[in-house]
Amino acid sequence: MSSTQQRTAIVTGSAKGIGLAVATELTARGYRVVISDIDAEASDRAAASLEGAISIPCDVRDEEQVKALVDGAVEQLGRLDLMVPNAGVAIVAPLLETDLAAWRTVTSVNLDGVFLCLRYAAPAIMASGGGNMVAIASVTGVNGTALVGSYAAAKAAVINLSKTLAVELRDHGVRVNAVLPGFIGTDLVMDRAAEFEGYLGLPAGGFDGLIAQKQGRYGTPEEVARAVAFLADPEQGWVTGTALTLDGGLSGSLL
Ligand SMILES: NC(=O)c1ccc[n+]([C@@H]2O[C@H](COP(=O)([O-])OP(=O)(O)OC[C@H]3O[C@@H](n4cnc5c(N)ncnc54)[C@H](O)[C@@H]3O)[C@@H](O)[C@H]2O)c1
Repeated sequence: MSSTQQRTAIVTGSAKGIGLAVATELTARGYRVVISDIDAEASDRAAASLEGAISIPCDVRDEEQVKALVDGAVEQLGRLDLMVPNAGVAIVAPLLETDLAAWRTVTSVNLDGVFLCLRYAAPAIMASGGGNMVAIASVTGVNGTALVGSYAAAKAAVINLSKTLAVELRDHGVRVNAVLPGFIGTDLVMDRAAEFEGYLGLPAGGFDGLIAQKQGRYGTPEEVARAVAFLADPEQGWVTGTALTLDGGLSGSLL
């Protein structure tokens, strides 16, 4: 297969965590991947660790940088088949302790950034003959979730955005889906465990116990990566506008 025929993907926020696992899974499945992160050095390091990957650092909040990311991917790899808007940040605070600046910190990355990535990737994917976009949302997007209200609101909007784009792009050969993970053991969560414990009145280490009770264990980045690959698989040609939950049962049960 020539390099212009090989499927290609952009994964944002892919220097570590879920994004890096998605990039690794896609590479194993024969994609050439663009690693893209706001942390340029980490982005370059991650790309160097994956066969055929290239690094195009990008802050997904910046429209010009997102345009340059998509243009750069097509220029360097010849085509674009898959966009995975994965970059995300979280803050832990009740909504009444969340000021507008904090709200915007979360929504600018988790919602505006996803909009920009989908908005600019879609025409490039259409020009390559069709493909996929898989957004990394969250189960918090379909459930009220104390202490991460700004994050949950942004994820709810991402789910809706994916469903709307799925309809708008159906006849243009682009499928748009979202994955909704529960708690995954990455820095995004583990670095904030103590804050959760403080607000919830749990002893040190108590957050791990809560997760074990609610979803059995932490999910792994690799599990999310396989769900992304499943949705992007050309065999799933009629799966579009769906939101695939993987959370060990967290969101499906009251007790
Ligand atoms: N960890 C979880 O429990 C969990 C659950 C559901 C959904 N998610 C979502 O999965 C995605 C990845 O999360 P993770 O757990 O791997 O987090 P992480 O903190 O391990 O990694 C996030 C990456 O995004 C990058 N990033 C942050 N702001 C950026 C920006 N403006 N532009 C480009 N890159 C930026 C960071 O540098 C980092 O490399 C996020 O969208 C997150 O909301 C995570």
